[in-house]
Amino acid sequence: MKTTMIIKTLKSLVIAGAILGSSTLLANDGATLYNKCAGCHGAKGEKVALGKGKVIADMTEEELNISMNGYIAGTYGGAMKGLMKGQIANFSKDDIKAVSTHIASFKK
Ligand code: HEC
Repeated sequence: MKTTMIIKTLKSLVIAGAILGSSTLLANDGATLYNKCAGCHGAKGEKVALGKGKVIADMTEEELNISMNGYIAGTYGGAMKGLMKGQIANFSKDDIKAVSTHIASFKK
């Protein structure tokens, strides 16, 4: 009985460590951050999200940075800026940079 408990505890520690470790590693990974954007913006940023805004694949890395920092600050955007702010509300400046670099890489 006791041994089983110890093994169970060790197992959950290993799993917790793996989750923590990978999320730290992936925190600024643009491709991973972009996963939740693809539904509206397209796998390669080629869609006009919900029929609003620009095709983000056409934007430069700088424009992407400026627009996303602006959504967070409340200084950028159109009719659906509130929705976009929600999408990236928990992004750090580094996350925005990483996802901008990733989107800019979609250009042929
Ligand atoms: C639920 C749909 C949806 C999701 C998910 C979404 N967006 Fe958007 N996004 C929009 C809409 C709608 C707009 C236009 C908002 C406005 O009115 O300014 C927009 C605008 C933008 C713009 C600026 C384009 C412009 O017109 O200037 C960027 C950059 C952007 N999104 C990046 C992202 C990134 C990066 C993610 C993922 C972290 C993401 N979006 C997730 C719907 C979405």
